[in-house]
Amino acid sequence: MEAVADRLDFVERKPPLVFEEIDFTVHNPELLAVRLAGPLEYAQRVEHLVGVTHMETLMPRRTPQVERFLVQWTIDELGHAEALGHLMEMVGLDPVPLDGVGPPTRNATIGRAGRMSASLHAVIETIWATSGAMNEHLAMSAYHRIDAILKDAGEHALHETLFRRLRAHESAHKSFYATYATERWASLRGWQQRLARGVLRRTWAPVGATEAADRPAFARTVVALAADDWQETLVADVQSIAERIMDAAGEMGPFVEQAVRLTLESDPAGEELLARL
Ligand SMILES: [Fe+2]
Ligand SMILES: [Fe+2]
Repeated sequence: MEAVADRLDFVERKPPLVFEEIDFTVHNPELLAVRLAGPLEYAQRVEHLVGVTHMETLMPRRTPQVERFLVQWTIDELGHAEALGHLMEMVGLDPVPLDGVGPPTRNATIGRAGRMSASLHAVIETIWATSGAMNEHLAMSAYHRIDAILKDAGEHALHETLFRRLRAHESAHKSFYATYATERWASLRGWQQRLARGVLRRTWAPVGATEAADRPAFARTVVALAADDWQETLVADVQSIAERIMDAAGEMGPFVEQAVRLTLESDPAGEELLARL
């Protein structure tokens, strides 16, 4: 687990995002509100969701490394949510309230299975880490695109003091998840590997877009940030992360594309993207 220890150190030692140090100077709030309403709304809600996901319920047998990662990850993501919420207010958008949102009920059911069986727990951890790497990749790509739009619009303060840091954090998270998943995968037996692949393929959805009610916000984010190349930058890249970790090139079927299509079909702007194909 040396590689994992190394990645964990990296996550813990990276420069933090300090709210007081962010320069929220915005020259053209109207332009940002128009171009980034969908992505900001989606990202702020998802970053905030980690506060209620209760990963300890999902994984009752946590290693000290996973425990440490979850502590730092939660601090990071809640800090991201706070910064994005403030930015939304600066440009006249309303941050998404999360009152009354609880952890997914299925986490407790899955957690009970892992409590009873160490072999199942190993499968659950592998799926958690693989899907974590896929979702952090989505976050990283989204911030990369938002950052490019900001630079283009001359909003250098936000680029320098917020989005560069967000991108770096998501990249660090992704590297921990991917390394952890790869090591875990290698320790699984055949039936565990088949189960892990099967469950991931059948259940994966972009983070924060599992429920039907939340799919349109993800669709609007895709439309705003990757209208012309979502199949390459989003679908192909994310699918290949899963196939690399699970040693399954071409064997898992186009499950990422199906999950993304499901979100696009939930919103008129997303439908329009699909109609262009
Ligand atoms: Fe984040
Ligand atoms: Fe992250």
